[in-house]
Amino acid sequence: MRTSHPRNVIPKTITLPSGYEMPRLGYGVYQIPGEFCNTVVCEALARDYRHTDTTTAYRNDFTCAYVVDFVATFGIPSKRNAILPRSEIFFTNKLPPKLRGPIARGTRFQPPAVTPEEPNPPIPQGSEYLYELARKYQKTPAQILFRWSLQKGCVPIVKTVNRERMEENMGIWDWELEDEDVLQLETTEYKPHAGRLVEEGESLWG
Ligand SMILES: NC(=O)c1ccc[n+]([C@@H]2O[C@H](COP(=O)([O-])OP(=O)(O)OC[C@H]3O[C@@H](n4cnc5c(N)ncnc54)[C@H](OP(=O)(O)O)[C@@H]3O)[C@@H](O)[C@H]2O)c1
Repeated sequence: MRTSHPRNVIPKTITLPSGYEMPRLGYGVYQIPGEFCNTVVCEALARDYRHTDTTTAYRNDFTCAYVVDFVATFGIPSKRNAILPRSEIFFTNKLPPKLRGPIARGTRFQPPAVTPEEPNPPIPQGSEYLYELARKYQKTPAQILFRWSLQKGCVPIVKTVNRERMEENMGIWDWELEDEDVLQLETTEYKPHAGRLVEEGESLWG
């Protein structure tokens, strides 16, 4: 079992060119119906997720925004209504191309500083190597893959509607994969297409 402290501690946030601090672990809500987002986004925030990722195309972005405002005003119900200031929550929305120009001009929307991320590595069923690593590090296969994403410099956006898995997916900070295992996982099967920071002066809207 590997319990040693990581040699290279990965900061929990990354500074964007805009100056905003983006939490490196995000909570994604793709395919979660709006009415269900009320609960799960609240539960994710209660479990220390501080980055919520949605888009107008998911049709749940208004609910997610409502939850963020709610916890900033009334607190998190499952945390004895502890207030979570709005400034501590990073909220990602993605506008459809035809709305980007008109909405971005003259509103409080901040221009993006990162190109859209692509999926995390899939969690394959029956990958013996992955289970080998899970045994070696005493972690779950999901934790191995999300930790790998972090060590690759990506910002994993993890989606789960399950409270236990929300906690499980958070358990990726205080340990690390050895370099050889990071390399070994770098196969076509797992390799994500990572987002990248927008260069200074680069057009934001294409
Ligand atoms: N996929 C894309 O093309 C795309 C594009 C842009 C942005 N995003 C963002 O990225 C987020 C994640 O997308 P994705 O495609 O990676 O996820 P996904 O495949 O849509 O969902 C993750 C799946 O993994 C399961 N899961 C989560 N944690 C697990 C664990 N610890 N053990 C076993 N299974 C687990 C979830 O089930 P349960 O919910 O039942 O746990 C769910 O079925 C999206 O919600 C969205 O915000 C995705």
